[in-house]
Amino acid sequence: MSRDNAQESEAIRQHWDAKYHVTPFECLSWYQSVPQESLRLVEAAGIARDAPVIDAGGGASLLAETLVQLGYMDVTVVDCSRQALDEARFRMGASASRVAWICADIRTFRSAKKYSLWHDRAVFHFMTSEDDRRRYLASLDACLDDDGMAFIGTFAVNGPERCSGLPVQRYDAELISGVFAPRFELVSSSDARHLTPTGSTQEFAWFTFRRTNR
Ligand SMILES: C[S@@+](CC[C@H](N)C(=O)[O-])C[C@H]1O[C@@H](n2cnc3c(N)ncnc32)[C@H](O)[C@@H]1O
Repeated sequence: MSRDNAQESEAIRQHWDAKYHVTPFECLSWYQSVPQESLRLVEAAGIARDAPVIDAGGGASLLAETLVQLGYMDVTVVDCSRQALDEARFRMGASASRVAWICADIRTFRSAKKYSLWHDRAVFHFMTSEDDRRRYLASLDACLDDDGMAFIGTFAVNGPERCSGLPVQRYDAELISGVFAPRFELVSSSDARHLTPTGSTQEFAWFTFRRTNR
């Protein structure tokens, strides 16, 4: 990793650690008591219980915990915030050992394991530069199994312009297809409305990708 990239990763880590440190998770805008759309997509895709699943930028989300409760046996959470991962681990208690927790910048993350499912809710949309997106997609390319699929949840084009004090890139199917091409092709998309803990709503768009020319 270059010195510039290392400094950038450190700045991002500090930003997100501070967010999770200062505000209880249940009060953060992205908190969901049930990760409903993610679970719906997992079920609809028929992801096998022994399939390696990664929640990229999963933070303190309840997705990993819920997947373990549903019998998923190979769940990994990657996030740049140690604070977020520790919170999720603590909440899960003894069953936390059934999840692999990795503190890393998703843009440089590499894994010997190839994942059948890459899940990302509200992380890719922070990749606002060409370089961010190129590095994120290189990680996805390196970590996804040949037959794997990726669920990417971003703010929709009528969603908020910022999240957690940071600008985001909002997407519709056409825009994100162009960004993920040529290595990944869009299989399906759906909309979901997120109700934040303060009672406002955020429009999300979900996209399922597979490798092109499998
Ligand atoms: C809006 S939160 C969403 C968290 C989780 N996906 C959820 O739905 O609850 C964004 C998450 O992405 C993580 N994140 C942001 N940039 C990252 C990066 N470059 N590498 C790894 N994690 C990152 C943050 O720490 C945070 O947990």
